[in-house]
Amino acid sequence: MIITPSQIKEIKKEAEREIEKAQDVLSLDNLWKKYLGRKEGKMNDILRGIKDLPLDQRPQIGALANQVSQKLEEKINQAKEKISQGKNKSSVKRDFTLPGRKIDLGHEHPLTQMRWKVAEIFSSLGFEILDGPEMETEYYNFEALNIPDGHPARDMWDTFFLKGFSQKKIKTTESEGKLLLRTHTSPMQIRFMEKRQPPLRACVIGRCFRNEATDVSHEHTLYQVEGFCVDEDINVSNLIHTLRSFLSLLFGQEVKIRLRPSYFPFTEPSFEVDFSCLNCGGRGCSVCGQSGWVEMLGCGMIHPRVYEAIGYPAGKYQGFAFGIGLDRLLMMLRQIDDIRWFHSGDLRFIRQF
Ligand code: DAH
Repeated sequence: MIITPSQIKEIKKEAEREIEKAQDVLSLDNLWKKYLGRKEGKMNDILRGIKDLPLDQRPQIGALANQVSQKLEEKINQAKEKISQGKNKSSVKRDFTLPGRKIDLGHEHPLTQMRWKVAEIFSSLGFEILDGPEMETEYYNFEALNIPDGHPARDMWDTFFLKGFSQKKIKTTESEGKLLLRTHTSPMQIRFMEKRQPPLRACVIGRCFRNEATDVSHEHTLYQVEGFCVDEDINVSNLIHTLRSFLSLLFGQEVKIRLRPSYFPFTEPSFEVDFSCLNCGGRGCSVCGQSGWVEMLGCGMIHPRVYEAIGYPAGKYQGFAFGIGLDRLLMMLRQIDDIRWFHSGDLRFIRQF
């Protein structure tokens, strides 16, 4: 077989014309076979024939044939890409009867749903809903709440201290002590009362942090609901009534509660509150540890030292305060067995709510 450069160029032109005309990927694949395929490809015929050429012609023809093969390969690929990008519109076949693709919509995290629910109930009871800083000072988190430096009660609220934040930048003073991640929402009692005069009723729902080992019922990050009410004539019955109303509205049924004496530096007297187990109706089951009661929250009458720190006149006001763990409340409500699910980011858990 005699091969000339013009023969090769002729094949190239013919191939390019056909590639141009091709409307779909299948015909381009066929063109690839026709020109570049190993068995019947025209360019391969040429390459195979090179060995029969006179020695001095081989390099020139060989180089040209390779160049053309490469070029054609490129053109075929480009044409395929164009088709797949839909530029060559006529070749795109659409099936309008196919079902649409479902867009996966997310929803609020169960803890966020719970926050809204709790906020709604407390606002219906006449409480203002407050926010507060998650970054606090030692003064607001401890001192003003009657937990002075070195007081053993600080061990109950071991936390994370923040390095590298300038106090000027977040507008605190040197005397407020070190910066930390708040361990509870109680500091908002102080911040709010500093700004306002009684009568007042407020509820703070927010994120708190503890430096502690995690297990099924302990997390380093948790949510607390802090409520307080201050006026000239407030007593423990107001506290009991508020808590019972809150729990009954939340659970949608009458809930019995009981108070046990306890200790918190910022309340006097202080109580621990249990409510009758909803799972067994108070008879005793695995949820309530066979006792018929579920431990729920801490509360008490606000300590006179707290009013002193705020600058309220001594003896003029009384008030109650309580702190509820939002995570634990939700765990009870929805039978969640491990607090660590909340921050796990596991969608199998989240999608159940
Ligand atoms: N701040 C407490 C805690 O983190 C909870 C608490 C207890 C809040 C009694 C209160 C209270 O307002 O009166 O453990």
